[in-house]
Amino acid sequence: MEIRYHGHATVELVIGDAHVWIDPYLSDNPLAKVKADAVRADYIVLTHGHSDHTGDALALAERHKATIIATFELASYFGAKGANVHPMNLGGAHRFPFGTVRLVQAFHSSSLIEEDGRIVYLGMPAGAIIEAEGTVLYHAGDTALFGDMKLIGELYRPRIAFLPIGDNFTMGPEEAVVAAEWLGRPRVIPIHYNTFPVIVQDVDAFVRNLKERGIEGLALSPGESLSV
Ligand code: NI
Ligand code: MN
Repeated sequence: MEIRYHGHATVELVIGDAHVWIDPYLSDNPLAKVKADAVRADYIVLTHGHSDHTGDALALAERHKATIIATFELASYFGAKGANVHPMNLGGAHRFPFGTVRLVQAFHSSSLIEEDGRIVYLGMPAGAIIEAEGTVLYHAGDTALFGDMKLIGELYRPRIAFLPIGDNFTMGPEEAVVAAEWLGRPRVIPIHYNTFPVIVQDVDAFVRNLKERGIEGLALSPGESLSV
């Protein structure tokens, strides 16, 4: 499969001819090199409701008849707006044509702010474990460090982990190094940094700190791809 990073937490997986998006945030994403009307989408996995993760989900779902995969509340929210959805919840896995998606916990929150300023709460935030073509990926979503990352490492053995390092809204780089150890030392692709001033991080220092512990870190630039 091909992994394309689009900046912030936005990851596109090309698995066979399926385009699977995780947290599509393109139109308002200052790091993204492509715009939402120039991409293809078949499935959209959402970790939580915040607009920097769901920004283009509805537009992509509508344009491409793509299916949104998310926790029950978040999926239902977009379902009510007309999207095709597949609701799930934490701990559950489902086999899709492109591979298996399992939602796991994240320590964060999940809501969307409506145009009138009203906050709609949308259930639990999640991380996603995606297994396709024999590769296990873990996208942690937005999260603090939590001890059960050890369990995720033990049970699912991710080979690639997308971990937030921005601090402020999520864990920072020091905690992400610990997360990488606890997850069983996968290849780490840092996400959720440098998008806004408050989450600017020294990603080279992060990669060096991983390397000192024998863990491979790979800082993909927005627009960059990796074949695995
Ligand atoms: Ni968030
Ligand atoms: Mn976020």
